[in-house]
Amino acid sequence: MALTDHAAREKIRDRGENIRRLKVMQDPGKVERRDSLDTGDNEKYYRKHSGKHDSAYALEYYRRHRESTMRRISNWREQQMAAAALSLTGARKIIDIPCGAGRFWNTILDNDQVQLLAADYNKAMVKTGMNNASPWLRDRLRALTASAFELPLKDKSVDCIFCMRLLHHIDDRQDRMNLLKEFARVSSGYVIISLWVDGNLQAYNIGRKQRDRSIKGWHRIVLSASMIETEFRQAGFSIVRHLDMLRFISKWRMYVLRV
Ligand SMILES: C[S@@+](CC[C@H](N)C(=O)[O-])C[C@H]1O[C@@H](n2cnc3c(N)ncnc32)[C@H](O)[C@@H]1O
Repeated sequence: MALTDHAAREKIRDRGENIRRLKVMQDPGKVERRDSLDTGDNEKYYRKHSGKHDSAYALEYYRRHRESTMRRISNWREQQMAAAALSLTGARKIIDIPCGAGRFWNTILDNDQVQLLAADYNKAMVKTGMNNASPWLRDRLRALTASAFELPLKDKSVDCIFCMRLLHHIDDRQDRMNLLKEFARVSSGYVIISLWVDGNLQAYNIGRKQRDRSIKGWHRIVLSASMIETEFRQAGFSIVRHLDMLRFISKWRMYVLRV
């Protein structure tokens, strides 16, 4: 549907506003509080849960994947999957969104040819990541606050969008399509994206608990693998490969998509 003049002007104004708000955080000390980005209706998940995304939550998230043995094993496996996925792309310009507290920065920057943009909607997350990163990592990335639904980047300006642990929060089909289309606009090559899929023991157990109503207030969803693959194609991607955390057992899957 064609935009009216008014809607087009509004859209340009909003985009300008977002770009103005975007801060490249060469001095992470300046990032002190969570600023919300106004991106219209695209932040349903984030708005609903924004209360807990403060600095304390960010630090808890930073530590979470280092704490229990199970977490360390799953983090190790996720890094291994990410390295394998990245090696399929040969990408040099990568945006990690949402980067959270920087869990994947070491893995992405293992290739010294890579230029990394690290972006998250939540400043506290990025600040926590920057504060805990080694000086070597900090020097090699540019961090910014941005919404995955409205990236402040030109068309086809990166080789790869690396998107871990966001899609399993997005239960609305139209929101998923908006996100994927934005990724197709900005990437000239690949998208690496993780989510929860069905067809494994963990997904079966989640489904059972949800039916018994023993899980309440969750903002995470298992998607049917065949449905999300259709959505990827509808958004303009082909599927290069998928990698499972633990086949038939784990719900976590990472897709490598070609624009
Ligand atoms: C579960 S964490 C994952 C972080 C990181 N990818 C990881 O795996 O460690 C989800 C992150 O998504 C961010 N987020 C939520 N909605 C977002 C949006 N619309 N745009 C960008 N980041 C968003 C949150 O601030 C949070 O840091």
